[in-house]
Amino acid sequence: MNTRLLFPEKFIWGAATAAYQIEGAWNEDGKGESIWDRFSHTPGKVLNQDTGDVATNHYHHYHHDVDLMQAMGLQAYRFSIAWPRILPAGRGQINQVGIDFYSRLVDRLLAAKITPFATLYHWDLPQVLYEAGGWPARSTAEAFVEYADVTTRALGDRVKNWMTHNEPAVVANLGYLMGEHAPGIKGDCLAAVKTAHHLLLSHGWSLPVIRQNSPGCEVGIVLNMGFDPPASPSLADRKKANGNDDIWFRIYMEPLSGRQYPADLISTLSVRIPQFSKDDYILPGDMESIAAPMDFIGINYYTRRIVRNTDVPEEENLPQTLFPAPKNDENYTEMGWEVFPEGLLQVLGRVYFEYKVPKIYVTENGCSYSDGPGADGRIRDERRTRYLREHFRVAHKAIQAGIPLAGYFVWSLFDNFEWAFGYAQRFGIVWVDFQTQQRIIKDSGHCFTEVIRSNAVD
Ligand code: FCB
Repeated sequence: MNTRLLFPEKFIWGAATAAYQIEGAWNEDGKGESIWDRFSHTPGKVLNQDTGDVATNHYHHYHHDVDLMQAMGLQAYRFSIAWPRILPAGRGQINQVGIDFYSRLVDRLLAAKITPFATLYHWDLPQVLYEAGGWPARSTAEAFVEYADVTTRALGDRVKNWMTHNEPAVVANLGYLMGEHAPGIKGDCLAAVKTAHHLLLSHGWSLPVIRQNSPGCEVGIVLNMGFDPPASPSLADRKKANGNDDIWFRIYMEPLSGRQYPADLISTLSVRIPQFSKDDYILPGDMESIAAPMDFIGINYYTRRIVRNTDVPEEENLPQTLFPAPKNDENYTEMGWEVFPEGLLQVLGRVYFEYKVPKIYVTENGCSYSDGPGADGRIRDERRTRYLREHFRVAHKAIQAGIPLAGYFVWSLFDNFEWAFGYAQRFGIVWVDFQTQQRIIKDSGHCFTEVIRSNAVD
């Protein structure tokens, strides 16, 4: 039998969403087009040609949605702001109606005693800025500071927890290397590393602006971190795992911590891209700007990926069968992601002990299972409940180990538009019927309410 684990008194429990995944109203009230509008409207990019045009229609349902959050007992809500709703042309002209929407949302959250945690960039770049060069261009980092300034001037009196970027690695790698996310470019290493640099730069530049506009606030960035060990101890597998770590994690975490970009990554790029020179885009003072101290870091953790080097012939590598990865269908979510709660301790421990960050939030953790309403209307998503409980227990272990974990946001509050997978993957603790927009709290949502109420997990 599991013992009951009590969390620290001030621990914050919340749920997370992102603008493009839930808001809908893609072209209403003066909102500009984003790269995700363009991408999802391009045939063949998103499964089943799904789009975020309507999504969960949160833009029109936000007041009921906040009531629902309150009924569920959420203490905090992490949402993102759509840049093209605030500045439809990326910079310049302000769309007051867009600001008013977030202002009403924030007021309603505060009235419900739910602490707002706002992310400025969760991937929906104004299309016009993409056309002017996008993240590979330094001017986009400058535009971001303008956007951060306008937004925090409007909301900074009430929102006191800010996140600049969500998962910069996904923006750079899925957007410019794999082409699976907007803007859908494949194999452009140079654009990907410039994107990484400009995302980081825009983060660093905006910190003093946000602090000035939102006195007493805390600001951080959100990184995705998997636990991705080599498949075997062979040099080939270890090199591959290290290379992955460079482009998925260290390229962000090292400069954020005042260190240089990973040396191996820079030398690999110099070999692969003849015209590559980091001096072309890393200007004097940039690394200092990026390393501006943050108040916290957000970590999104979902799974473990065991890394095998397939560039060398199998017979020249240590047989993988000597180090079998646990393959058990029970242990995989519908995204095909392994359920591996211990990995959460690995990543939190690494971030804290290696980089000494002052405070950590788990800003996303959750799983995709499609369980829907039974005949009685109830949603018995036991696998999600189990997934969350196991991860909460590991989070507790991390706190016991001295890691300054201050809160936990479940991904996601709602079933929503899961990027390239459209509506085919459901991560919510609240079921959404996308035809009628009916919401039903799943069993996992009810269990979460009990965890929050008791501040403990069984
Ligand atoms: C993360 C994203 C979030 C959601 C989850 C499943 O990478 O930040 O928007 O799609 O994955």
